[in-house]
Amino acid sequence: MTRTLVLGGTTEASRLAKALAEAGEDAVFSYAGRTASPVEQPLPTRVGGFGGVEGLQAYLRDEAISHVVDATHPFAAQMSRNVVQACAEAGLPLCAFERPAWQAAKGDDWSHVADIDAAVQALPKAPARVFLAIGKQNLAGFAAKPQHHYLLRLVDAPAADLPLPQCSVEIARGPFDEAGDLALMQRHGITHLVSKNAGGRGASAKLAAARALNLPIVMIDRPQVPPRMTYGDLAEVMAWLFHTPG
Ligand SMILES: NC(=O)c1ccc[n+]([C@@H]2O[C@H](COP(=O)([O-])OP(=O)(O)OC[C@H]3O[C@@H](n4cnc5c(N)ncnc54)[C@H](OP(=O)(O)O)[C@@H]3O)[C@@H](O)[C@H]2O)c1
Repeated sequence: MTRTLVLGGTTEASRLAKALAEAGEDAVFSYAGRTASPVEQPLPTRVGGFGGVEGLQAYLRDEAISHVVDATHPFAAQMSRNVVQACAEAGLPLCAFERPAWQAAKGDDWSHVADIDAAVQALPKAPARVFLAIGKQNLAGFAAKPQHHYLLRLVDAPAADLPLPQCSVEIARGPFDEAGDLALMQRHGITHLVSKNAGGRGASAKLAAARALNLPIVMIDRPQVPPRMTYGDLAEVMAWLFHTPG
């Protein structure tokens, strides 16, 4: 008997949940619980951290999970590290469902940086208007460059004061399109874009808009996660689930 745990928080995870539900598969969907109203899934859903590797191992055992698909965001590296370790120790098959990283295209002006601190350093000294398209985590580092005006796009209205002295907040949930992102960036007079290399189509409109406006992009490369079987295609993940003994 197969019972799959889907670690979610991405459009890939939602697509997988739909496919599993339509196939009548026994599966559980897991959210970290970062957003106030997460997208509803057609699978039984749990919300919240497991309690590290040990908590995850206990969950896998108690719920008789036979397969795990890590469909978290490429920057959710802690969760991905934990699940590699937990599955290895429990002898459970694991695969990642992950969209390929974005590549710079002709006309793009990208500075690749390794992490948030390097992204802060990559911004200019002179005041600029920066679209900080990195979600609500990791904003504090940018307080080191308070001369800039930051545009934030968040899923939920911020519950507490933001750590940035000059900022505007746009409340919106993707997917986004190029015309909308172009208009947004023009409306706010954006001069620089900071982005995580999330990959995928839903969030790539800002890159096309920046290209159209000839704006420099500070692109934060993906964090390292331990090697695991990785697929970029839903059909491949489903085939893996059907053909991998639990
Ligand atoms: N990081 C991003 O840029 C980003 C962007 C879009 C969506 N997301 C989604 O937001 C969630 C949190 O991302 P993050 O960067 O904070 O992750 P993270 O730093 O890798 O994870 C921190 C902790 O959050 C819990 N967690 C993360 N994903 C979980 C899941 N799907 N189900 C249950 N617990 C989970 C785990 O807690 P325990 O150790 O207690 O188990 C994990 O150790 C992920 O599900 C991710 O797919 C993240």
